[in-house]
Amino acid sequence: MIMESDEYMEDEHILVTGGAGFIGSHLVRRLLDDNRSVICVDDFNDYYSPLVKENNIKPFLSRKNFKLYRVDIRDFNSLKGIFSSNRISGVVHLAARAGVRPSLENPLLYEEVNLKGTMHLLELSKNVKNFIFASSSSVYGNNKKTPFSEHDNVDKAISPYAATKKAGEVMCHVYHHLYNIPISCLRFFTVYGPSGRPDMATYKFTKWIDEGKEVQRFGDGHSKRDYTYIDDIIDGVMSALDKQFKYEIFNLGNSHPVELNYFISVIEEELGKRANITKLPTQPGDVSITYADISKSKEMLNFQPKISVEDGIAEFVRWYKSSK
Ligand SMILES: NC(=O)c1ccc[n+]([C@@H]2O[C@H](COP(=O)([O-])OP(=O)(O)OC[C@H]3O[C@@H](n4cnc5c(N)ncnc54)[C@H](O)[C@@H]3O)[C@@H](O)[C@H]2O)c1
Repeated sequence: MIMESDEYMEDEHILVTGGAGFIGSHLVRRLLDDNRSVICVDDFNDYYSPLVKENNIKPFLSRKNFKLYRVDIRDFNSLKGIFSSNRISGVVHLAARAGVRPSLENPLLYEEVNLKGTMHLLELSKNVKNFIFASSSSVYGNNKKTPFSEHDNVDKAISPYAATKKAGEVMCHVYHHLYNIPISCLRFFTVYGPSGRPDMATYKFTKWIDEGKEVQRFGDGHSKRDYTYIDDIIDGVMSALDKQFKYEIFNLGNSHPVELNYFISVIEEELGKRANITKLPTQPGDVSITYADISKSKEMLNFQPKISVEDGIAEFVRWYKSSK
């Protein structure tokens, strides 16, 4: 276990697992800007380049109130050490294997990290004031009814990844029931924005179009995703962290699904380049639409997404060009 920090703090900390990742690093920045003390746990694995994660985390290393532990959440004893040597008041558990398609290749790894890792965190969080679990819109599988509501039945996952997220929500309920831990499970819908994951569509399409490479489009392009801008997601996470619920599940999505073909055209527009599209069959595990009903999040979290896909892609492309 390696710890990097400027000084030992007696404060209460928010523990962010997966804090070097895409969503995690945006959350860490928001928390530090809000003068909170943050502990980040991340194993910097090579699901995508660890260098990207190092760059995400670099600006925080010199900041007061920030500690980094390079720890794998499968390592219970190291996690236990972190909990016993720090006063942790809240946990935002984002660390996970996050790809749908790769989960078909390596389901056991997904089970180990996403479920066993989550249980490790829950075991150690019996005294925290708030526990936030990163769930996913993928739990809705091929839900026919739209928009997707937290009340819909989600027993029919169609990928190992989705099943681990649903199982994580259920395990969160067990720990809430047994130990009274206040828990919110947040179902994120296709998050994009600056520092976006290189394995996700927004990044890949932008790179391929920019470099004049073939754009591999799965399906006929009519599938729809509820692309949600990172700042809106962070607003929702902060709200869930500050309000304390017994046990709740919330959708965090834009509630405005757009077709893949349109999404690609917005990227083309921003780059001023045309996509050279190669059509490929729909992938097993892929769903045809995601669409968040956010009435519950609006009411209980004051969640109100503000960034349109057009504005969000403009921000993303600006970041992409500056980081090349
Ligand atoms: N990005 C999205 O669109 C999206 C949608 C739905 C749900 N989510 C969920 O949100 C969370 C964050 O996603 P993201 O897009 O930021 O992904 P990410 O891969 O960028 O971030 C995850 C971070 O967790 C770390 N991690 C993974 N396994 C670990 C382990 N065993 N021990 C310690 N750290 C580990 C990774 O190194 C990475 O930095 C994940 O739980 C993901 O499933 C994301």
